[in-house]
Amino acid sequence: MNWSGKRIITCIAALGILLLAGCGGHQQSVIDPGGPLAGRTAGLWWFFFWLLTAIFIAVLALTLWTLTRRHRGIEQESLEVTHLPSEQTESKLTRVVAVATIATVVILFILLIGSVVAGKANADLGSRAKNAMVIDLTGNQWWWQVRYDNPDPRRIVTTANEIHIPIGRPVEIMGRSNDVIHSFWVPNLQGKRDLIPSRVTTNWIEADRPGTFRGQCAEFCGLQHAHMVLWVIAEPEDKFEAWLNAQLRPSVSPTDSVKQRGQQVFLNHECIFCHSIRGTTAAGQVAPDLTHFGSRRGIGANTLPNTFGNLGGWIVDPQRVKPGNHMATVPINAADLQPLLEYLESLK
Ligand code: CUA
Repeated sequence: MNWSGKRIITCIAALGILLLAGCGGHQQSVIDPGGPLAGRTAGLWWFFFWLLTAIFIAVLALTLWTLTRRHRGIEQESLEVTHLPSEQTESKLTRVVAVATIATVVILFILLIGSVVAGKANADLGSRAKNAMVIDLTGNQWWWQVRYDNPDPRRIVTTANEIHIPIGRPVEIMGRSNDVIHSFWVPNLQGKRDLIPSRVTTNWIEADRPGTFRGQCAEFCGLQHAHMVLWVIAEPEDKFEAWLNAQLRPSVSPTDSVKQRGQQVFLNHECIFCHSIRGTTAAGQVAPDLTHFGSRRGIGANTLPNTFGNLGGWIVDPQRVKPGNHMATVPINAADLQPLLEYLESLK
């Protein structure tokens, strides 16, 4: 086998590996749908993939065929003199080109109609949904505020960087932004939608199986755009209700002396100007609500997993962990740090 043959096989193998990696039940993959909307998009993707693969193979096969066959029709003519094919060959070639052009236009129309039908079906979910739920999502540099709307103000839940949804219920995401344009994208559930300052944009998501799906801001929004991650946790209705009811409760009051001291450390520092912990005097509105911080998976919009060590590093020097973020470095005495961590992690 010659060098270019090896190169082609290497390229095909690499593409195959990439495709398999994309299909392998990943938590952030367009072609591993977790719900009907993403399922429709994935179906469209596979339709495109197989149709275009077939065309690609057909074109390659035809190219090889024309390169290797003997040019019988043309060879018999005095090619050196005229450089022109015979009339018979000319009309045959015209027919071939006409058929290929018509086939191309028809295939492009099939792809266009498939895209429009899938896009319209996904966008129309709202008008068909009877048991829909609304979630307000606000993009901030660089974190997500999540608010569960309710006609009863006592049942409004505010959290951050995590969206819990019940399986089988369409959820309308009302997107806003507090600063620049962000984009909400959870590939396993639905396509992208921008969050634009001073506007409200809507998007639907729905899960039909339990799962934890990774979402990522999909519009460059500044230095820490890549660290603007959110998780969507899809769970059965009863588990979702239990989570929502737990979130509705004010923060747990610390019972032991270490956590009580940690709470005082929090309340006596600048933390309270930005963060809220319901049930305490901390009522800041510009940073994530920490009422149930200990129940969340990540720190700094999921820049780090939520562990004692990571939280300690984050509080001591947030700019080292996530340069440019808007969290101030608050000087905390070494002896106060452990109680503060114990208290924050106890906020389940
Ligand atoms: Cu927010 Cu990129």
